[in-house]
Parts: sequence; C-alpha cells; structure tokens
Amino acid sequence: MKNLLTMNDLSKEEIIQILNQAERFQKGETWEAGTGKYAANLFFEASTRTKCSFEMAERKLGLEVIPFEAQTSSIQKGESLYDTVKTLESIGVDTVVIRHSLERYFDQLTPLNISVINGGDGCGNHPTQCLLDLLTIHQEFGRFEGIKVSIIGDIAHSRVARSNAEALTKLGAEVFFSGPKEWFKATDRTHYLPIDECITDSDVIMLLRIQHERHEITSTLTKEEYHESFGLTESRKDKMKPSAIILHPAPVNRGVEIADSLVECEQSRIFKQMENGVYVRMAVLKRALEIN
Ligand code: CP
Repeated sequence: MKNLLTMNDLSKEEIIQILNQAERFQKGETWEAGTGKYAANLFFEASTRTKCSFEMAERKLGLEVIPFEAQTSSIQKGESLYDTVKTLESIGVDTVVIRHSLERYFDQLTPLNISVINGGDGCGNHPTQCLLDLLTIHQEFGRFEGIKVSIIGDIAHSRVARSNAEALTKLGAEVFFSGPKEWFKATDRTHYLPIDECITDSDVIMLLRIQHERHEITSTLTKEEYHESFGLTESRKDKMKPSAIILHPAPVNRGVEIADSLVECEQSRIFKQMENGVYVRMAVLKRALEIN
C-alpha cells in the first residue's frame, strides 16, 4: 500500500500517471476497490472540499467509509494521533486520509502499515490540492513546460503554495510569488514579482486565502486595503491575458483576494478545480490500495 504525504515523494512520471488516471475516471472509467476495503477520514482541522471530495471518491470506488469525527473521538481523552491511527489499522481500516495542524504529523506514523494520505499538514503540504490544480492547468494548456504560474497571497502560511511550487517547477512551469512581503519566507523572495507584473504576464493566476488562523501577528491591512493592493480586482482582471485562467483552492473570501464578480467569471476555473478534486482523489486512492 502506498502513502501520499508530499509532492516531493512523487516523481514526474508518477504525477503524470495520477493525472492520466484521474482523467480516465472523469471520462467514465471505473475501478472497484473490492469487497472488504475500508477508508477513514481523520480531519483535525476544518474542511469542506477535501473531506467531502475524498468521501465522494471513496464511495465511487466502492470503499466502505468508517465515520470518524475528531470532536467525538478518544483524541478528546488525550489519545495520541499515533494510537488513533494504530487503532484504525488494528480494526481493519486499509487507508486513512488525515488533515492535521502539525506540520509533518505523518513522520510519527511511519512504523504503521496502514496507507496514509495527507489531506493537509499545517503550513506544510497539500498534495491532493496540488494534483487537482495540476490537472486543471493541464486540461487548459495541454502541457506544463513554459507555463507561467503566479501564486498570490499568504505564501508563508500556505501548504498549497509550497506543494504547487515544488511540483510545477519539477514539471517545467515557471512559478512566481506575489502578495504582502511580510508573509514571505526568505527563500520565497527570490521568486517575488509585483502583482501587476504577475497579472499581465501569467497564464495561471492562483490566488490564496489569508490564513488568519496561522498568523501570530494580526495584519494591519483592512479587507478593502488588501483587495486593492493584492487582490484580483475587476481592473486587474481586464489586464490578464485572454487565455489566462484564475485558480483558488478555496474557501474564497469574496471581495478580499478576488472580487465577488470574478469568482464565477469565464476565466475562473475555481469550481472546475473542485470537480477535478474528486477524480484526482479517486486516482490517489486507487494507487494507495492497489497491490503491486
Ligand atoms: N482547498 C481545501 O483544502 O479546501 P477545504 O479546506 O475546504 O478542504
């Protein structure tokens, strides 16, 4: 059984295999996990898209989904993450999807034999979000080589930015960052571009949510000031290439990182990303459960 923890764990060839499988699922291919295969989704941080689309993917593959809610689990009695996952392994669960606020929480689970799929670890990684972003970009442009992707917003706190920057660079795309400079790490600054250069030159504008829950110091910018300085306003959208697309992992703060009117505009692929997420997660689950 295979884990999926970070995008760095996947070779270029493995990424392409997952994307191709996801597309085949989208076109109607079916694969049954087989009887007696069980999945559990352990979300210790809030989620709508990742949790629900994993559950949709699991059901489409015929997996039995064991309900797990952190708030009513024995985590509340002080049980560790390791003992929780070891318990699920012991009772016969084959694969767990985990979202946790601790960066690299999965390192403590390496002694276990159960397949672990990372649904997001703190500011660290979000590999299935990255894969669905890659599928959306590839469906639009048919390639990654030479595609200019600007990731704009709260870079330092974004697991989506990190996973995408790693994978897109590996696949031959050019990645730039923009947003408030105080939300950049020293290593991110080497790829910095002012937002208006990103807007005119990019094929993909990827906007990020401000992750207030991970900030130690509250930003002094109001929502309106952020929108004017770093958001996709209607006037900035008019300067995008006609072929460029808008991505956002969501949830979207309408009127902050993107104008309300642009969330569903003709260049937005935000809801397409969510649709693609189900097929990508089906491909990731198939990879995790297949006996090689
Ligand atoms: N994009 C994403 O991970 O959304 P959720 O937090 O709703 O899962």
